[in-house]
Amino acid sequence: MHYFEYRKRKLYCEDVPVEEIIREVGTPVYIYSARTLARHFRVFDASFGDISHLVCYSVKANSNISIIKLFANLGSGVDIVSGGELYRALKAGVSPRKIVYSGVGKKDWEITLALEKGILMFNVESAEELENINKIAGRMKVKAPVSIRVNPDVDPKTHPYISTGMRENKFGIDIRESLALYKKAVSMRNVEVVGIDCHIGSQLTDVKPFVDAVKIVVDFVKTLRERGITVRYVDIGGGLGITYRDETPPHPEEYASAIGSLIKEMDLTLVLEPGRVLTGNAGILVTEVLYTKRTGEKTFYIVDAAMNDLARPSLYGSYHEIVPVRKKDGKTTVADVVGPICESGDFLAKSRELPLVKRGDFLAVMSAGAYGFSMSSNYNSRPRAAEVLVNGDSYEVIRERESLRDLLRGEKIASFLKKRGEL
Ligand code: LLP
Repeated sequence: MHYFEYRKRKLYCEDVPVEEIIREVGTPVYIYSARTLARHFRVFDASFGDISHLVCYSVKANSNISIIKLFANLGSGVDIVSGGELYRALKAGVSPRKIVYSGVGKKDWEITLALEKGILMFNVESAEELENINKIAGRMKVKAPVSIRVNPDVDPKTHPYISTGMRENKFGIDIRESLALYKKAVSMRNVEVVGIDCHIGSQLTDVKPFVDAVKIVVDFVKTLRERGITVRYVDIGGGLGITYRDETPPHPEEYASAIGSLIKEMDLTLVLEPGRVLTGNAGILVTEVLYTKRTGEKTFYIVDAAMNDLARPSLYGSYHEIVPVRKKDGKTTVADVVGPICESGDFLAKSRELPLVKRGDFLAVMSAGAYGFSMSSNYNSRPRAAEVLVNGDSYEVIRERESLRDLLRGEKIASFLKKRGEL
């Protein structure tokens, strides 16, 4: 459920006509609905009912500090994967005690900063990383709370680029080798083993892989306990899918009850790292039609948003519904919706049946709230889009459109190039 709908043929976000935002802010623009975000968080969180749990919003899905703050205000923690995300989370006022830090390549300064701030735990992804965390914590005379990310070798049946819990992936520690690493961890002076972690992939539309993975993890917790190693947290990552087109992912309640029943009476606190399910359908990307181009073969709608704004279609062949901001009647055409970038891979939709639109019309790319802006770039020296947050009948720009000056920030002409003839 989300709050994007037509009223009198005009697309609204909550009680604000999208056209009103475009008039002030221009395009391309990401528009998020605060009510939808809050609703998604509440439904997800409430699904776990009285199971001891902590929802740690996965910041990578949408890292705008207003979005992080919105979830933090509702009691959420965060899952971070870099010092940059840590910085954002702290700026948004997230309590360090609700921050979990995942990722295979944590640098020393990032580990140091996280230890200084006192985060809830590191999700450790290799033996070498564990040693490094122990070393840095030792130098700082603190104890680092750690979980080990185990790889349960479960096929999440999602796109290969976003599947993470299989043996061939770079993530986590092979479950068969994890016991040895846990034994090592408990013998280290400057780490405290507090949990176990796994994340098998993203955009999962079936509960079964989650259930399979959690069963493996719970069995492993029992093995650990038999060996006298206790953990408090079991972090099962994120990954719950959403409907982009006709997918029928499990409702959070179904997901929660399937998992909850496995950890009940285990005296564990469940940590969850949802990203997409909270933000995906709470945001759209609005773009202006620049030109229509008909070649012998095809019709192209050339729009002012491109793969640098929304990479998902180019990167994964992902489907995003596209609708006109002002509803059209009758005739449709089959078109590719493409951006101005000089790559054939720059498209938002291929061979899509769309209403007849013309130069100056606006299109909304739906389900763009997750991995949209957060994966955007400046490729082709395109300033990144503005972001707007709607709340009821008002809205605010939560990230200004980048300027041309922003494009050159930190850049300079090498001094030897300022004189001619030195090469
Ligand atoms: N936790 C960890 C350790 C993760 O790696 C991820 C996502 C999440 C949580 C959140 O997963 P979610 O609930 O959003 O599925 N760019 C891709 C998705 C990459 C996901 C990376 N990891 C896309 O646009 O589909």
